[in-house]
Amino acid sequence: MKVLIVGSGGREHAIAVSVAKSSQVDKIYCAPGNAGIAFVAECVDIAAMEFEKLADFAEEKQIDLTIVGMDDPLVGGIVDVFEERGLRVFGPRKNAAIIEGSKAFSKDLMKKYHIPTAAYENFTDADAALKYLETAPMPIVLKADGLALGKGVLICNTLQEAKDGVKTLMLDKQFGDAGNEIVIEEFMTGPEVSVLCYCDGTHIKPMTSAQDHKRAKDGDEGLNTGGMGTFSPSPFYTDEVKKFCEEKVYQPTMDAMKAERRDFVGILFVGLMLTKDGPKVLEYNARFGDPEAQVVLPRMKNDIIDVVNACIDGKLDEVDLQFEDNAAVCVVLASDGYPEHYEKGKVITGFENFDGKDGYYVFHAGTKKTEKGIVTNGGRVLGVTAKGANLKEARANAYEATKLISFENKYMRHDIGKAIDEV
Ligand code: AMP
Ligand code: GLY
Repeated sequence: MKVLIVGSGGREHAIAVSVAKSSQVDKIYCAPGNAGIAFVAECVDIAAMEFEKLADFAEEKQIDLTIVGMDDPLVGGIVDVFEERGLRVFGPRKNAAIIEGSKAFSKDLMKKYHIPTAAYENFTDADAALKYLETAPMPIVLKADGLALGKGVLICNTLQEAKDGVKTLMLDKQFGDAGNEIVIEEFMTGPEVSVLCYCDGTHIKPMTSAQDHKRAKDGDEGLNTGGMGTFSPSPFYTDEVKKFCEEKVYQPTMDAMKAERRDFVGILFVGLMLTKDGPKVLEYNARFGDPEAQVVLPRMKNDIIDVVNACIDGKLDEVDLQFEDNAAVCVVLASDGYPEHYEKGKVITGFENFDGKDGYYVFHAGTKKTEKGIVTNGGRVLGVTAKGANLKEARANAYEATKLISFENKYMRHDIGKAIDEV
């Protein structure tokens, strides 16, 4: 069969590598893809938001299955466009992807269906938000309602910071229309865990857990980024936490979406904070996490095509989802200066060191093929993933492997997965 993947990051590279492992697949295309994806798929120069062009391509090439990796096209309704044209596609429709597209929607959904989350209020009016803050406890969290590249969340320690935050989001519109509405939310503390789940509209099957590191610098200092590294599984995600989430979060979310006539088919990413009062939902995303996919997918034993087909056909209950009994760590190699100012176009060397190295992966995020070779082309450049018998071994393997890749300006965190020493 022929598969088209939509997206261009490390996550889509991880999806492509999983798809390439399936014996059912003869040909993979990726739009627009990147220099690393080009090793396993034919990259097609169509942007992820060009829905009609993508659908034309899928028709012309007789694509059997399209897998959408990115949030923007899902929230924008790519699945609806493909379905209207009779094309088989994996991901939530627009009316379900809103669970990621609008934080106000997802908070109201959780409130209505008693899914544990932080206390909150939604505001469309800046004056009302400012008035509410006067009597609110600090610290407090402000969230732009819409998509903001994971950067529309402000943790405010003082009333003044919170007032400035309302101005930034709602009046100065730093994140554009994403700030037309904001959520003001109780500040919580505790370890964070990401659980990605396959969903078929009725059934939901959680994958193995993972944890991201969002801050740019060691010790969780510095600015928020798209993610500097991940590990899987999370030792904080105990059997007890898992049982709680299965009963109180995952299935209730599926049932809630169904009750709202927004049946969710695709990947539901549940961001959890494990607070003293129990697990609470921080956020939902409507797709695989990046870089969570880079540690979760390499550990999955199933043929991804079987699982995706079961989701589309409403037969996920028939799938026995299995993960390897090991661990994986992904360290992101970034350009120094990310997420602010950084240079691109630096030649990357050392890829050949990974040839035939089992249990190791170099997932490309911001790279480009040029006459000089593969060069850096973004803030997050590569994700180096290594497996190990346990997290400590996987971490040692991943950091050892980062030494095999060189480029000017190479920057990484040195404490990915360090929290596991404290468990
Ligand atoms: P989100 O995009 O909603 O996941 O938020 C991004 C990050 O902000 C999360 O991964 C948390 O580290 C932090 N965050 C979000 N909401 C809260 C909250 N209510 N309390 C404390 N930290 C939060
Ligand atoms: N790693 C967080 C995300 O994909 O949103």
